[in-house]
Amino acid sequence: MLNASDPWMEKARQYGQEQLFQFWDRLSAGEQDNLLAQIATIDFEQMHRLFHKSTDEVDWHSLAEKAEPPQAIRLSDAAPPFTAEAAMECGEQAIRAGKVAMILVAGGQGTRLGFDQPKGTFRIGPVSNRSLFAMHADSIRGTSRRYGVSIPMYVMTSPATDLATREYFEEHRNLGLGNDELHVFCQGTMPAVDATTGAILMESTSSLALSPDGHGGIVAALHQQKVLESARQRGIEHFFYAQVDNPLVRACDPLLIGYHLLAQSQMTTQVVSKRFATEKVGNVVAIHGRSHIIEYSDLPEAIANQAHSDGSLKLWAGNIAIHVLDLNFLESAATQNNGLPFHRALKSVPFVDAAGSLVKPSSPNAIKFERFVFDLLPLADRTIVVEGDAKEVFAPVKNADGAATDTPTHCRLALIAQHKRWLEKAGVSVSDLAKVEINPYWALDANEVQQKIQKPAEILVDTYFA
Ligand code: UTP
Repeated sequence: MLNASDPWMEKARQYGQEQLFQFWDRLSAGEQDNLLAQIATIDFEQMHRLFHKSTDEVDWHSLAEKAEPPQAIRLSDAAPPFTAEAAMECGEQAIRAGKVAMILVAGGQGTRLGFDQPKGTFRIGPVSNRSLFAMHADSIRGTSRRYGVSIPMYVMTSPATDLATREYFEEHRNLGLGNDELHVFCQGTMPAVDATTGAILMESTSSLALSPDGHGGIVAALHQQKVLESARQRGIEHFFYAQVDNPLVRACDPLLIGYHLLAQSQMTTQVVSKRFATEKVGNVVAIHGRSHIIEYSDLPEAIANQAHSDGSLKLWAGNIAIHVLDLNFLESAATQNNGLPFHRALKSVPFVDAAGSLVKPSSPNAIKFERFVFDLLPLADRTIVVEGDAKEVFAPVKNADGAATDTPTHCRLALIAQHKRWLEKAGVSVSDLAKVEINPYWALDANEVQQKIQKPAEILVDTYFA
């Protein structure tokens, strides 16, 4: 039983967080243990600093004035530093040699989608109705088979998604991946604080309002849970990083990996050309010779609008969160920088009030602290940006149907359109009334479709190639 002089109570009081113990006397012994275990993970000094912004806040507006386009391999390059053929060969070699693994980040809460299960379990296959997780697993399996190698998939969960994700994989027999190919690890959390007072919020009388510490939490999680160590023992040198909500991504894309290797890059980022100056994507730029991402909300409009004489945007590179990361680079980032900086986001977070009743605010009331994986970019001495074709690589599921962009419907249409293109290239005519879907285990790309389709054909009804 704690008393008022307990060190944790004392510490909470010292930082003005004594509300954490306001229901203490009403809790059962088990509830007290639970609450104390959560409180013991809080770095009170850090929370205080983050709320009061006494850390160095980046002045993006003045940095943006110095932003230049990043060093990039563009789709329209007439004389790229490396040819696509050379990159493909190099990437394929690394995959065959067992040096590449996939990282899938799947710890987000899917708030915008309004889906209360892990987003990876959301069914997205336009004909097959397969889940996002299944799509990624099939893509890995297709790649493993093509290169005759076992490719591990490391899935990052958060306390919000961990148990349900593990159960899902177990129920679905790892979606065809071997036990030594699927590795699930859990990221850390951060407490949410009241936006006006900085008081740490409680989601019940015996637990804190904790949320995942952002996709950038991966750096600390990989290190602390010895994932890097076990991957290294397995011979892994490079990670292909993708987000669970983008089923268009090609797992361990050999071309991207090849460019990464030829450029001797530590962190490679696939980008797409922005459709318009103020598009809501992160801008990949170079500042003083280092790569950075400037969030659209931090990029002054006049700078976003800068264009060349042919009308093309100066800051053209939009982040789609597909990266290749060197294991050594990740390890040094984790050990030397104690992870990555935190960003603040104003969100609506349910909390218990002083009477112990749950309040569900209808407008943002809290600050959440999150790390972003792209903050690794400026830490890398060598980076390269590779342009991809948006319609081939990016169709994320972010919002619920009805929203203007990035909904399940948009994503399914993008999958159908891609597979239709591949089939038509192989001489198959697809009726506008028919939905088509290709399982990546059947064909990973347009070339493989071409090899499989022997003669011209016509598709009139919904068809799933598996
Ligand atoms: P987003 O923030 O775009 O999506 O994360 P979300 O978290 O799934 O949904 P919202 O924001 O609540 O609506 C992009 C990717 O990063 C992962 C997500 O799972 C998604 O794949 N992510 C995000 C994490 O793994 N951990 C986090 O703490 C946050």
